[in-house]
Amino acid sequence: MAFQKIGIMSIGEMGFHWAKLLKSHGVEVLTYDKDRGEVSRKRAENAGVTSVASMNALVKQTELIVSIVVPFAAKKVAAKVAKAAAKAGRKDLLYLDANAISPMTADEISSVLTPAGVHFVDGCIIGGASKMGKGTLVYVSGPEAARMQALETFNIPIRVLGPTTNQASAFKVVYAGLTKGLQGLFCELLMGARKYGLLDEIRAQYEENYPGLLDKVSSSIVGLRIHAGRRAEEMAELKRTFNVQGLNSYMAPGAQKVLQAIAALNLGQGSDDGARQGDLAETLNLFYEKGLLQIKSPGNIS
Ligand SMILES: NC(=O)c1ccc[n+]([C@@H]2O[C@H](COP(=O)([O-])OP(=O)(O)OC[C@H]3O[C@@H](n4cnc5c(N)ncnc54)[C@H](OP(=O)(O)O)[C@@H]3O)[C@@H](O)[C@H]2O)c1
Repeated sequence: MAFQKIGIMSIGEMGFHWAKLLKSHGVEVLTYDKDRGEVSRKRAENAGVTSVASMNALVKQTELIVSIVVPFAAKKVAAKVAKAAAKAGRKDLLYLDANAISPMTADEISSVLTPAGVHFVDGCIIGGASKMGKGTLVYVSGPEAARMQALETFNIPIRVLGPTTNQASAFKVVYAGLTKGLQGLFCELLMGARKYGLLDEIRAQYEENYPGLLDKVSSSIVGLRIHAGRRAEEMAELKRTFNVQGLNSYMAPGAQKVLQAIAALNLGQGSDDGARQGDLAETLNLFYEKGLLQIKSPGNIS
């Protein structure tokens, strides 16, 4: 049976688009946003999300809680839900972690939620926030993963990966290596091309040999203005995910450094209607004007 009351932690860019989609299908969407910033609270209001007074109230009033927060907050949110669910004596609450976290973090979240009686499903989102309901996919794994198929009623395609709790997170981390790796690579190369006055020429040549590739990545490059720090963390997670399996990772740390350099430019925050500001040309121009990748003193050249 389809869910009727879903909690979303929190109403960031992705949470906003989930909330709008679920609301359009008649689902009641709730959140607990007392500790959130003004933009998140405004987004919740704009999406018609009910803000409840406590985590206990959220746990008591919902059938499913979806965690869509910044990845470093994923464990904290799970711990708060576990505490509230144990206190409320909830034994049937479902919890979907849809964050870009490592498989190791997914295991830790499972070990916090399961003893509290919460049914944990590991998940990940492949696709942009504004494409929720228009192609963005949700991959899930774990013993109860198939229960998420009820979300398909609301135009959220669900792909079940397997029975192991951390598979969806591992899938996302490896997938993200391509998308964030391409973002970092393009940003670095295009800064160099611009320095040599060859930006348009190199873009034309990329387009001739790899038609559509930069176009596909361009909206994500625009998104780096607000999400670069989080995406840099994902590259650190990718390296750790490989290392625990005894594999080296050389590409991920490179992408991480470029994304960290963009984050250090401090280019602003998300909008309260979930829309991204600017296009690719403006974004590259902004990165260049702000000195992205510029070596501060010649003594640092190696
Ligand atoms: N955006 C996309 O297109 C996209 C695509 C695929 C996957 N995802 C995944 O979706 C997740 C969210 O991404 P996003 O783009 O929506 O990020 P975002 O716009 O930065 O929003 C993150 C939200 O998490 C909240 N938050 C931060 N710390 C928290 C805490 N300790 N407890 C509870 N909430 C907290 C933030 O609230 P405040 O800022 O107000 O504190 C904000 O509402 C990430 O795991 C990301 O990998 C996003």
